[in-house]
Amino acid sequence: MPTLVIVGAQWGDEAKGKLVDVLGHEAQMVVRYAGGNNAGHTVITGGQTFKFQLIPAGILHPGTVAVLGSGMVVCPQGLLEELDRTREQRSELGELIISSAAHVVFPYHRMLDALEEDARGENRIGTTSRGIGPAYQDKVARFGIRMGEFVDPTRFKQRLQEVLAYKNRLLEMFGSAPIAFDGLYEEYSKYADRLRPFVRDTEVLVQNAVARNERVLFEGAQGTFLDLDSGTYPYVTSSHPVAGGACLGTGIGPRAIQNVLGVCKAYTTRVGSGPFVTELDDAIGQQIRDQGQEYGTVTGRGRRCGWLDLVALRHSCRLNSISGLAVTRVDILSGIGPLQVATGYRLDGEIIPTLPTNPADLARVEAELVELEGWNDDLRGARKLEDLPTPVRKYLDFIEAQTQTPIAIVSIGPDREETIITRPDLIWA
Ligand code: IMP
Repeated sequence: MPTLVIVGAQWGDEAKGKLVDVLGHEAQMVVRYAGGNNAGHTVITGGQTFKFQLIPAGILHPGTVAVLGSGMVVCPQGLLEELDRTREQRSELGELIISSAAHVVFPYHRMLDALEEDARGENRIGTTSRGIGPAYQDKVARFGIRMGEFVDPTRFKQRLQEVLAYKNRLLEMFGSAPIAFDGLYEEYSKYADRLRPFVRDTEVLVQNAVARNERVLFEGAQGTFLDLDSGTYPYVTSSHPVAGGACLGTGIGPRAIQNVLGVCKAYTTRVGSGPFVTELDDAIGQQIRDQGQEYGTVTGRGRRCGWLDLVALRHSCRLNSISGLAVTRVDILSGIGPLQVATGYRLDGEIIPTLPTNPADLARVEAELVELEGWNDDLRGARKLEDLPTPVRKYLDFIEAQTQTPIAIVSIGPDREETIITRPDLIWA
């Protein structure tokens, strides 16, 4: 069964977009399973840079079906802008399909996102302000408006009336101006008209592709430790980025997944607040940020940078049943050495086996660091493992040994060509 989940193995921004692009041309279908336009996937190919937030990066391959799965929350305006921009950049694209069960993000979700962050005060999460949390809250509260309802004019009017009356009461309670129904309905009806041709029931579509033995790629967004249940709660997003989310957010069962490619950077980054055990709040952290241009695609915020955390990565391999790792941005570490990696955590003087669930404990944890030799070479010309200098290969071997997981891909630059596939058997079975 040639099915593959591409999952972020850390806190997001691991360069999943590039890998979806590299592997997507071999897939008949690419399905995104979680999140919304809080994600930012950059793909650099043929001298062009594409920035995706909602559309699966697989759309760049004509002949590929790109599905926005039921686990997603979709901002219609953002999606249309992204679609127009991508069409301007490239005339031949894959087919876009949007799940009728995906939820719609409205302006009141963004307003409530800001109000909730204010209410958290010092404990603010540092969300992307895209209304993601409030949109998922509506879904869980069984109050959300799904894509299928959105593109049905009669149903949409009725649902928006019902929901907006409630949301306006909430907004007024917080001292915000209510949203006028007519203007909102008119604006969003126009978006619905344009999106209607793309909206379908997608569960059977995906199931049938799997049953026909087609290559189906499940594209993750965000990362494992931003998962609502398995991440560093409450500093998480509101969906399920873990590999299991591919089942929840597309309509397949666990046995339909063959391989899980866990994408991790050769170091660690995190955007927004929350514990970060190996964070480097110093000149080395700044050097990584500068060399890696570690600034958010969605918000432009500087990302927090730190050493590779192998305790977290080991846990991630288990949480996602990762079959192979894709280690990205190895080139960025050139000239930084000597390098350090965390192999253990210490809490109150005791070695602990993995990440504590309590965020207060995680914030107190100290990393056990191991020093590894660095390198100064430019790696971007390497095309096979043997082209890489010995310290790089030792660094990669160390990751494999510590995580007990084979490395399937090494990425040494943003371009498609700057990718070394070491274990093709762990990608499409
Ligand atoms: P939200 O998803 O906007 O609610 O933000 C919740 C947390 O997830 C914040 O710390 C964000 O910075 C983080 N986050 C959301 N999407 C991404 C992403 O695509 N990459 C990295 N961090 C993200």
